[in-house]
Amino acid sequence: MKQLDHFTPYSIEFMQKTIDFLMREVKTFHVRTYGCQMNELDTEIMKGMLENRGLTPATEENADLLLFNTCSIRDLAERKALGKIGRLGKLHENRPVIGITGCMANAKKETLFKKVPYLDFVLGTNNIHELNAILDEVLLTGKQPVKVDSRFEHELDYTSAKRTDPVKAHVSIIRGCDKFCTYCVVPYTRGPESSRHPDSIVEECKKLAANGYKELTLLGQNVNSYGKDKPEWSCLFHDLLYRLDAIDGIERIRFMTSHPVDITRNLMEAIRDLPTLCEFVHFPIQAGSDRILRKMHRLYTKGEYLDKVALLRSIVPNVCLGTDIIVGFPTESDEEFEETYEVMKAIEYDCAFLFSYSQRKGTPAMRWKDDIPEEVKEARLQKLLTLQNEIYTTKREEFLGKEVEVLVEEQNFKDDSLLKGRTRCWKNVLFSGEKTHIGTLQKVKIHSYSHQTLMGELIAHNPLSLVI
Ligand code: 5AD
Ligand code: SF4
Repeated sequence: MKQLDHFTPYSIEFMQKTIDFLMREVKTFHVRTYGCQMNELDTEIMKGMLENRGLTPATEENADLLLFNTCSIRDLAERKALGKIGRLGKLHENRPVIGITGCMANAKKETLFKKVPYLDFVLGTNNIHELNAILDEVLLTGKQPVKVDSRFEHELDYTSAKRTDPVKAHVSIIRGCDKFCTYCVVPYTRGPESSRHPDSIVEECKKLAANGYKELTLLGQNVNSYGKDKPEWSCLFHDLLYRLDAIDGIERIRFMTSHPVDITRNLMEAIRDLPTLCEFVHFPIQAGSDRILRKMHRLYTKGEYLDKVALLRSIVPNVCLGTDIIVGFPTESDEEFEETYEVMKAIEYDCAFLFSYSQRKGTPAMRWKDDIPEEVKEARLQKLLTLQNEIYTTKREEFLGKEVEVLVEEQNFKDDSLLKGRTRCWKNVLFSGEKTHIGTLQKVKIHSYSHQTLMGELIAHNPLSLVI
């Protein structure tokens, strides 16, 4: 009964507070999500589990149960979540039940109770199936349970996931990561790779198609490793893609994220040959210097990476590429950073996520001093951002006057006469149209652009693909 430690044991006040605590009724919930798409999907699954239990969604201020589905990838992500939880605790006199889930649960485990004394439970990324059980334990005993398994072993109820987007759905195909890049916490917070059975994936995707979903994004820390941990299934990533492409009603399939060493010729040919598979590959290079790549344990050299990009571009000439880059990795010299800059310039990525190195407890890179001053990291980041913005502008100009295929996702937030959608290569497009176009594929002619968005005009209303 740790939460009640500040009351004198067995005093009337203590007894009353104990009774109040144990009689808390939990009827409503709110989940706040930090981090990647995998966390967003886990949140949708947890919402489904809570609604199946009879709870209803509520605002953060009114919920009886608050879940923080956290991220540990960089220090800032953790600080944001802890700051928020800290502020909430102070605000609530009759506070809600509070649980921390996600990567921070695995990274920090019971030490979270020291940082957040009024926390009720800690539930790791591999224990989502136990959400309702841990909630029962809290409500029945008033204990502060911690469940953080090191590997993912239990199937989840994906079909009950509470999806808010009616057009696009995330589908988990593999969890965990065996790559052990020296800067990264994921292999420790999510554990080893664990592929989901292909039959279960196909069954879920068929149901999504039957419910009107048009675009699926297959998720995993390294989707290209799919099936390698289960050779008895004889189903590698490209085999799975052929099975999913055959499902009626799905217009587009995407996948996130890839490790360059596992991108195979078979996968490249699947992108070329499968009509649903979008010509977009997230191909994270992380750094352009061979010494830094070795120190990061990325398992490829710059030359090998460039060869693979060239092979992909020869097989799929219209492919678009995305990347992640870390600047300021320990000991990165100015010259080594310039190599990253030059690679970025040479490849001209369609999408780039740029990060400053952030030291993570428990990772192999902790053995090196975080020796690049923050202002140097910031200057390197700005230099890459400027370059990337120039590349974006050139690429957007190339779209002017061209026709693109857009999957219409929603009305524009600010002006509902405008519709928002994306091209197969993940470019945002705005154009005027009807609400009934949502969920359909439309041809749009691009006439201008602003910031990251292409603006265009509907060429001809395409009623054939009307679905919702
Ligand atoms: N510091 C900075 N960026 C990181 N990433 C992962 N770990 C760190 C870290 N310690 C970035 C990588 C990865 C992306 C998801 O986050 O670029 O691809
Ligand atoms: Fe982290 Fe590397 Fe695995 Fe990506 S491939 S999740 S960066 S360890």
